[in-house]
Amino acid sequence: MKKIFVLIGSRQKSGNTSGFAKSITEKLDEDKFTVEFAYPQDYNISPCAGCAKCFIRAKCVCSDDLEKLHAKILESDIFIIASPVYLHYFTADLKRILDRSAWWAHTLRLQGKPVVVLSTCDTNGHKTVTKPLSKIMTFMGGNVIACANAAMFPSQLDNEEWMEEVSGEIARRIEKYADIPHESNADIEKLFTNMKTAVSMQNVRREKYNLDIKLGEYDFWCDMGMIEYESFEDYLKEKYKSEEVVV
Ligand SMILES: Cc1cc2nc3c(=O)[nH]c(=O)nc-3n(C[C@H](O)[C@H](O)[C@H](O)COP(=O)(O)O)c2cc1C
Repeated sequence: MKKIFVLIGSRQKSGNTSGFAKSITEKLDEDKFTVEFAYPQDYNISPCAGCAKCFIRAKCVCSDDLEKLHAKILESDIFIIASPVYLHYFTADLKRILDRSAWWAHTLRLQGKPVVVLSTCDTNGHKTVTKPLSKIMTFMGGNVIACANAAMFPSQLDNEEWMEEVSGEIARRIEKYADIPHESNADIEKLFTNMKTAVSMQNVRREKYNLDIKLGEYDFWCDMGMIEYESFEDYLKEKYKSEEVVV
């Protein structure tokens, strides 16, 4: 069975955003996919304290439900992240989770996982959530395979034909990407090169000045084996060659 984890940025469990995501997941073969939905109120997540220790430790120091939520995301085969538009951005609840996961943006933590980005809105902000959220997912190493907003105006949320077409296309992409090894893309490749240089430079400095400091992000790149590769694509090819994949 392939696992789909859906993180909804809205607290409305029967709301528009949840409904949009469900219109997609309901189209998937039940014998092939398990689907789990999560809402902000299901997890006790504190705000980011701003200590920036996560960048050094590759782990947040605050103890709450974050690791439980991270495990759900990492164990999934396909990750769907969705939010309503609130004042032209995603919800504060979702921002809190992403702020607390900031070190993922330096470590390509999603490791090429296929990601679907969704939003819903009333009348404006059609791209003000999908654009930044897709960028953040890419920074985190997610391969964004679909990205869509459903609005009240123009009529999409209440338009059966529109909903059927868009959710059908996204469901088809999920079916396709669930069956193939994780893939890279041009945007992740650029990030791979830049981040590899950045974390390597930190280590060069540590060695040059004989500094007694932990570099969690550099260690993560080494532990995962990414540091040894010239491209993320080559790394993923090697990683998905073996049966047992470390997420
Ligand atoms: C606090 C708040 C701010 C909102 N801001 C916007 C906005 O800037 N643009 C917009 O088109 N809709 C806005 N909306 C409407 C929601 O994005 C829209 O109704 C959405 O589909 C609600 O999703 P939900 O039912 O999953 O919570 C806002 C709604 C709320 C509650």
